[in-house]
Amino acid sequence: MNDMQFTDRAVEQKETKIAAKDVNVHYGEAHAIKDVNVEIEDKTVTAFIGPSGCGKSTFLRCLNRMNDTIDVCSVTGNILLDGEDIYDKRVDPVQLRAKVGMVFQKPNPFPKSIYDNVAYGPRIHGLAKSKAELDEIVESALRRGAIWEEVKDRLDKPGTGLSGGQQQRLCIARAVATEPEVLLMDEPCSALDPIATAQVEELIDELRERYSVVIVTHSMQQAARVSQKTAFFHLGTLVEFGHTGQIFTNPEDPRTEAYITGRIG
Ligand SMILES: Nc1ncnc2c1ncn2[C@@H]1O[C@H](COP(=O)(O)OP(=O)(O)OP(=O)(O)O)[C@@H](O)[C@H]1O
Ligand SMILES: [Mg+2]
Repeated sequence: MNDMQFTDRAVEQKETKIAAKDVNVHYGEAHAIKDVNVEIEDKTVTAFIGPSGCGKSTFLRCLNRMNDTIDVCSVTGNILLDGEDIYDKRVDPVQLRAKVGMVFQKPNPFPKSIYDNVAYGPRIHGLAKSKAELDEIVESALRRGAIWEEVKDRLDKPGTGLSGGQQQRLCIARAVATEPEVLLMDEPCSALDPIATAQVEELIDELRERYSVVIVTHSMQQAARVSQKTAFFHLGTLVEFGHTGQIFTNPEDPRTEAYITGRIG
């Protein structure tokens, strides 16, 4: 781990963007998330790490109520976004997901054109006053998704006709097009080559100037490169949470150390 570069040196404490309190998640009888308490900071990249099946995706999906779409899934506890309970009955999950955007492990473009994939969110949320403005939003989002050059001449072609890595960058563009306050990314680079991965990591670093980003990753190098905070999950519990540099160089819990040194995984 000595060759890692950390980006969390001398970071000041940022404001809390999302506070999770006593969160438990069940899938039917199975207890997938156990009493998780964590504060996700604004203008910070937080990495969720841990062995396969430990609950990273499950917990991530709690943060924009994506688990609502899974019948057998029940979530208890509180999740506050800027101090407001996102599970309150008055919260519209569609509005919430524009504020708390998500990029999934498997790219999932809509069966629409490249342009319409990105324009979809801005249209339903009324972010553009004219076609020219919408064009601008689409171009800027595609640029931020590091895919503009590859698609600018075929914006009217289906998003599903792109390669896997291109589809993923399209999905990132779609997610940033609505200017979310929080961006949740579940292993966003697992289908990308090293060049696209580097572009996405650069984008993540840029996004943190304005947003809070949470990224699930199996790459310790990636977590070290892009995140300032790291949360280590194991068997449904949040074992350790802290500055990325501290988690990787001086973990407090033996389970964290075993995982980052490759002894559990
Ligand atoms: N839709 C679902 N229905 C039932 N059980 C589920 C569902 N999704 C996840 N689980 C279970 O919840 C637990 C946590 O799964 P989750 O997908 O959150 O893990 P993960 O940490 O994201 O793993 P990976 O690194 O493999 O993506 C696992 O035991 C899994 O089988
Ligand atoms: Mg997962």
